[in-house]
Amino acid sequence: MDSKQDVLVYGMSDKGSIAEKGLQQEIAAAIKRKSITPDKFGTSYSTTFNGKKVLIISLGKEKELTGNHLRRALGKAVKYTQATKQLSFCTDLLGFFSLSPLEVGRCAAEGLILSNYRYTKYLGKEKQDEQIPLEQAVLQWSGTPDQLIQGLKEGRIIAEYTNYAKDLVNEPACSMAPSDLEAEAKKISGGKVSVKVLNKQDMEKLGMNALLGVAAGSDRPPKMMLLDYKGGSGKYTAIVGKGITFDSGGYNLKPTKYIEEMKTDMAGAAAVLATIKILSALGVKKNVVGVMVCTDNLVSGSAQKPGDIVRAYNGKTIEIGNTDAEGRLVLADALAYTEDTYHPEVMVDLATLTGACVVALGYEAAAVMGKDNVLIQELLAAGNKSYDRVWQLPFFEEYQNKMDGTISDLNNCATKGKGYEAGSITGGVFLSKFVDKAKWAHVDIAGTAYVLEDTDYQQKYATGSGVRLLTYWLAGF
Ligand code: BES
Ligand code: MN
Ligand code: ZN
Repeated sequence: MDSKQDVLVYGMSDKGSIAEKGLQQEIAAAIKRKSITPDKFGTSYSTTFNGKKVLIISLGKEKELTGNHLRRALGKAVKYTQATKQLSFCTDLLGFFSLSPLEVGRCAAEGLILSNYRYTKYLGKEKQDEQIPLEQAVLQWSGTPDQLIQGLKEGRIIAEYTNYAKDLVNEPACSMAPSDLEAEAKKISGGKVSVKVLNKQDMEKLGMNALLGVAAGSDRPPKMMLLDYKGGSGKYTAIVGKGITFDSGGYNLKPTKYIEEMKTDMAGAAAVLATIKILSALGVKKNVVGVMVCTDNLVSGSAQKPGDIVRAYNGKTIEIGNTDAEGRLVLADALAYTEDTYHPEVMVDLATLTGACVVALGYEAAAVMGKDNVLIQELLAAGNKSYDRVWQLPFFEEYQNKMDGTISDLNNCATKGKGYEAGSITGGVFLSKFVDKAKWAHVDIAGTAYVLEDTDYQQKYATGSGVRLLTYWLAGF
């Protein structure tokens, strides 16, 4: 293998490895000691050979390999290279995968670039220097290069903008106000993307009182950004992201252990922004409008109170059963306005909507729900392919009245039973009342947007959840 790089990374599978002769003996001994197991993905063995660091990664059974195994294996290679303070590696890993060259390229670039992410902005120089990113990966490939290179280019775009979404979500709330998201959104205008911003006065004129009620407690004015990507002809697809720049819960204040991470409550909006950037960089031939609905949810003398009743943009009245159920309020106005203005055929919203979603699915999958099964199946497939996974929750007829109000059309908190049953689904039911004709699905990323442990190609904290899901779905990968 090319020896200009600092580290050599060899793949191994149940069918063996093609490492140099001199290494084969050592590998055989390592297998005997059970330091590495040929049919168990992820086991690995490191050594030195001719004065060079070597990492051998077992890929397990070749028949069972998927693109996500490639992302993970390259993530392991990146981690090893960083941990040993090296800057580059060369690898034969790609050769083990019998996917299309396009997919191999995409997954490889994603694995490399997603795992190379660091959020070091607020660290001192010394600590920053402890985390020098990988500089170069040389990928051996014996087939024709064109499709592989195309895939690598696409994967690179996807991963770099996913990392950008992570940066936005990791940023503390003090420097990530609705106006900061506005500034970020405006950066992408040009070419096929135009950006429209609704300010507080516009919202007042339009009667977006569900959104304005949430915004009432903050000195930082709300913003709604509409990112219009005209990549093709035909009807719009809309993607709508929750952008709560800090969710204190409002007067239903969140307690300690729940409030600390609430700078991340704009992860849906960040994912929408990143996705529109990716679609335009990839040149996807579709018309897509990305909507970011952004405000704080805070307490003050002017903040909304439990029991208040607001009239939403679509005319429906909502009693505020709980000021902490703010995501559905801002999305209600965003969904109804988006449908009214762009007449999308399909509309998907992405939101860190409910703690109940974290209870149900943990950090491994986002929840998806809605009444259009074709759309849901498309999203499930895109989730599996991109491994930015979603899992369907039921949306039975019996759930559909749970958000009905008693002295108003709706309540933002379930009025039946104890109020918290099937909390993710009732959140979705509430949103559905603000969609008229469009085919619609709701994706709850409360558990997946921000995690507390590293995995092979993902670091703890912001994950960029939803970016690959929406991209794979819209680009048809
Ligand atoms: N942003 C939260 C949901 C959340 C919780 C996201 C944990 C990420 C991690 C949302 O605004 C919220 O507070 N939802 C309430 C709704 C309830 C009051 C009906 C919840 O889940 O408790
Ligand atoms: Mn809340
Ligand atoms: Zn919230």
